[in-house]
Amino acid sequence: MSVFYVTPVTVEDYRRRALRRLPRFLFDYIDGGANYEVTLQKNLSDFNRWQLRQRVMYDVDSISTATTLMGRASNMPLALAPVGMAGMMARRGETVGAKAAQTAGVPFTTSTVGICPIEEVQQAINAPFWFQLYMLRDRDLVLKLLERAKNADCDTLVFTVDLPVPGARHRDFKNGMLGGGLKGKLSQLVQIVSSPLWAIDVGLQGKPHTFGNVSDEVANPNDLDSYKGFIDSQFDPTVTWRDIAWLREHWQGKLLIKGVMEVDDAKAAADVGADGVIVSNHGGRQLDGIASSISKLKPVADAVGSDIEVLVDGGIRNGIDVLKAVALGANGVLIGRPWVYAAAAGGQPALENLLTVFQTEIATGMALMGVNTISEINSDLIEPGNNH
Ligand code: FNR
Ligand code: LAC
Repeated sequence: MSVFYVTPVTVEDYRRRALRRLPRFLFDYIDGGANYEVTLQKNLSDFNRWQLRQRVMYDVDSISTATTLMGRASNMPLALAPVGMAGMMARRGETVGAKAAQTAGVPFTTSTVGICPIEEVQQAINAPFWFQLYMLRDRDLVLKLLERAKNADCDTLVFTVDLPVPGARHRDFKNGMLGGGLKGKLSQLVQIVSSPLWAIDVGLQGKPHTFGNVSDEVANPNDLDSYKGFIDSQFDPTVTWRDIAWLREHWQGKLLIKGVMEVDDAKAAADVGADGVIVSNHGGRQLDGIASSISKLKPVADAVGSDIEVLVDGGIRNGIDVLKAVALGANGVLIGRPWVYAAAAGGQPALENLLTVFQTEIATGMALMGVNTISEINSDLIEPGNNH
């Protein structure tokens, strides 16, 4: 059947193309989650526990998906999430994400462990974007990164708090990406040779493959064990709310705390002066066996949503999911894997197409729910399904 489908439309279509194109160890790094991937699966399936309400006989002739996120206009309640090593998946992947987001009129977030340096992203779009920070033990290095981000026109700092240590990603070991020694390296070589399109487009033409924001600190950026070594030695597991107060002092732009799942933590984030939180379990890549992020959204939004912005990520795969998140109290969502699958599958045009599909689904859904604006979407428009 699927041979007759020639045009990728959905996230799953792009995912399959990414699978065909990428060396397996890179696909697994994107696609996989922690341990037995229970939370990863729940992030997806728990969207089905909610259902939207159809309302008829409303005048829906002036639909607008526009909203504001972190104080700026956005064409829809969606932003691109920070994804480490995006530049290994698509040629200069962070600039691809930034440019496609700019075309779609939504925010782009670049990761601390992106391949392209912040400055390259800025040159690509010449407009504000978001910078994601991991707290490093070396605070001078953190201050330097903040300075670079500010100079590169980053107006929002996304501070990620759910990675004091990396989660146990079993796939990364099985495919030889991590800790595989010589056998792992040989296996990777075979995987690369079996992926000629990627090897030429990204492997050769996408260089340099260094971690552009921290390249001085990663001993050998082409060696993923050395990257893991950098994370283990530099990511600071001692961080507490006091450090966020320190960060707040040194960062005058907007501050979003990413990786909050519980109401008390969201309140603590609001108390230290954050402008928003992202309800997130890191796409099921950190603590396996915890709840889906969508199931934690409403309690957090009810508790702090009138004081600060509440965003959510994890498992958002289409415009309907976005509408559910907004109805449950989110100001907006972030998508991680979906944008990288599309960028890996077909670069900027593919990602632009995917973002258009999201926006079309949101607009059509709004019409069928009987609303014209994002601000009209509230908890009256969603209900628990039978399987809730
Ligand atoms: C991530 N994520 C992530 N988050 C972050 O704050 N900094 C980072 O460098 C990364 N790196 C990263 C790499 C890859 C390959 C993935 C898939 C994810 C987490 C990301 O920002 C986001 O929280 C999740 O991806 C959201 O879940 P979905 O949309 O992928 O289901
Ligand atoms: C990851 C880290 C880099 O999820 O955020 O792989």
